[in-house]
Amino acid sequence: KNKKFFFEILIKWNRNENKREMPWKGEKDPYKIWISEIILQQTRVQQGLNYYNRFIKKWPTVNDLANAPEQEIYKLWEGLGYYSRCRNLITSAKYITDTLNGKFPEKYADILSLKGIGDYTAAAIASFAFNQPYAVVDGNVFRVLARVFGIETPVDSTEGKKLFKELANELLDKNNPAEYNQAIMDFGAVICKPAVPLCAECPFHERCIAYQKRTVEVLPVKEKK
Ligand code: ADE
Repeated sequence: KNKKFFFEILIKWNRNENKREMPWKGEKDPYKIWISEIILQQTRVQQGLNYYNRFIKKWPTVNDLANAPEQEIYKLWEGLGYYSRCRNLITSAKYITDTLNGKFPEKYADILSLKGIGDYTAAAIASFAFNQPYAVVDGNVFRVLARVFGIETPVDSTEGKKLFKELANELLDKNNPAEYNQAIMDFGAVICKPAVPLCAECPFHERCIAYQKRTVEVLPVKEKK
C-alpha cells in the first residue's frame, strides 16, 4: 500500500503550520539531544524546559557532565523524580568520556547499549543528531498512527508494540528522518491531542479513519489502565 501521503502531508504541515518552538528543536549535538530526551521521558515539556536549559548551561558537553560532582547533578535534578534517570546519565557520561574518548556513539546499536537508553531514545538521537532512518515511537506517535490508520490493537500489547513500530518505520521519510520525527511528535502535541484533538484544522481530516468512524475519542486503545 502506498503510504507516502502520510509523510508528505506531515512535512507540509510542519513547514507551513507548525509554530512550536523548543530549545532542543533542530539541535544536532547528540549530548544535548540525549539530555532533552531523558528529561522528557517522564516529564512534561513545559516543566522540562527549565531543567534542560539549566542542565545544558551548567554542563555544556558530555565531558563536563562526566567530571561534575555527582551531588550537584542530583541537586539540579531535584523535582524531576525518577532519579534512576539521573544515575544512568552519570554512568553513561563517564563511560563515553573514559572509554569512548568523549565521543558520543553514532551507531544505533552503540547508542542503544548505553545505560538508560531504550528504543525510543536511541531512535531520537540517531535521527536528530545523525539523520539516520529510525522512527521514534512515543505516546504521540501511537496516538497519531492509531487514529489516522484506525488501528484498534492495544498499543501496550506485544502485538501492538510490534505493529506500531513496523508501521512507524514504514511511514518514516527516509530522506528526512530528523524533520519527520520531530514533526510527528509536534503534530501529536499540537493537533492530534489526547483529549481535545483539533480535527477541524487537521490536514489528515479527509483520510483519518478514526475521524470517519467517529472513534477519535477511543483511540489509541490501551490494554492496561
Ligand atoms: N517529547 C519527547 N521528545 C520530544 C521532542 N523532541 N519534542 C517534543 N516533545 C518531545
